[in-house]
Amino acid sequence: HEIAWDASQAEKAGFPHFMLKEIYEQPEAIRDTLRGRLNPETGEVDLSDAELSPEFFEGLERIFIVACGTSYHAGLVGKYLFEKWAGIPVEVDLASEFRYRDVLINDRTLAIFISQSGETADTLAGLRLAKELSARVLAICNVLGSTIAREAHRVIYTHAGPEIGVASTKAFTSQLTIFLLLTLYMGRLTGRLTLERAMELSGELVELPEKVNLVIKAVHPVLKELSEKYFRQEDFLYLGRNILYPVALEGALKLKEISYIHAEGYAAGEMKHGPIALIEENVPTVALAPKEGGITYEKMLSNIEEVRSRRGPVIGFGTEGDAHLANLVTDFVGLPEVSWEVSPILYTVPLQLLAYEIAVKRGCDVDQPRNLAKSVTVE
Ligand code: G6P
Repeated sequence: HEIAWDASQAEKAGFPHFMLKEIYEQPEAIRDTLRGRLNPETGEVDLSDAELSPEFFEGLERIFIVACGTSYHAGLVGKYLFEKWAGIPVEVDLASEFRYRDVLINDRTLAIFISQSGETADTLAGLRLAKELSARVLAICNVLGSTIAREAHRVIYTHAGPEIGVASTKAFTSQLTIFLLLTLYMGRLTGRLTLERAMELSGELVELPEKVNLVIKAVHPVLKELSEKYFRQEDFLYLGRNILYPVALEGALKLKEISYIHAEGYAAGEMKHGPIALIEENVPTVALAPKEGGITYEKMLSNIEEVRSRRGPVIGFGTEGDAHLANLVTDFVGLPEVSWEVSPILYTVPLQLLAYEIAVKRGCDVDQPRNLAKSVTVE
């Protein structure tokens, strides 16, 4: 007898798709991103592997973060973190916009370019422009030795491992992990982050891989079942606020990319300025509303009420045991409590799984969605 040997099957390590394998690899990817860079005893971050020292950040007046697609969403999260903890104004730009506008850059500007592949044409062009204008250029890349990694003054590797699925998953949560490390680093440099808070955050980072692992195991079956109910819908709205607003954008992008469902991510406060007109029984809303959001939690609850009063179904993601939220929404998915800064990583995971399960039920080619490429090396 011949033994049938399917190499691609073997590479997927028993998972039906690379995307699902990569979603499940996130605990390991985050662990690898953190490895050697965080001292949980002291809360100190060591970025010497990227040849980063305090001098590189000295006298900064402004930060630009530039990227495309999912990497751009990581950059948006970075803005909230840096402005709060490093106290430096941050602008986030799509690379295709950045490269063709009159950007105000000088040698007191830090320009951060994020790219999983390190080969995206627009991001690379933006990097070359920033260098020309004498910015300090830092890249956050996953692929070792990629063009963007080579051309930047400094590079921090995400070390998420190879990502094959076209829709980015583990690279994104690793990029978010890098931003948390950079926040700790810069927050301590500027003194805006107290030692106590830095210790707390670094403790959470150390526990994060296991937490993500538990979340995946707990919510995957739940979302598999939920996808049964929702996979025939043609329009979705994703709402979040503050640091979870970019996560709403990313959740909508995941669904759009792999299931071809029309999905829009919105800052929940903008709902009244347009998307509320779309709400009806057949337009589900995905709402990100952990209690940890403080004032934004209260605001999310009113947004959810507005959707419900127009008979729109709501899938609510929030803090485990939040009975109030659970009663308000159509379907509730609870996640463990984490610091607000860390919540983007945790809340991304169920949105990846939701998109994945819906796409599978619609019979889509999850790993190779139509018209999309893993790496966009032309404009
Ligand atoms: C393509 C991929 C996306 C990715 C984007 C940016 O559109 O399909 O998954 O987020 O490019 O890629 P980069 O490699 O620069 O992060």
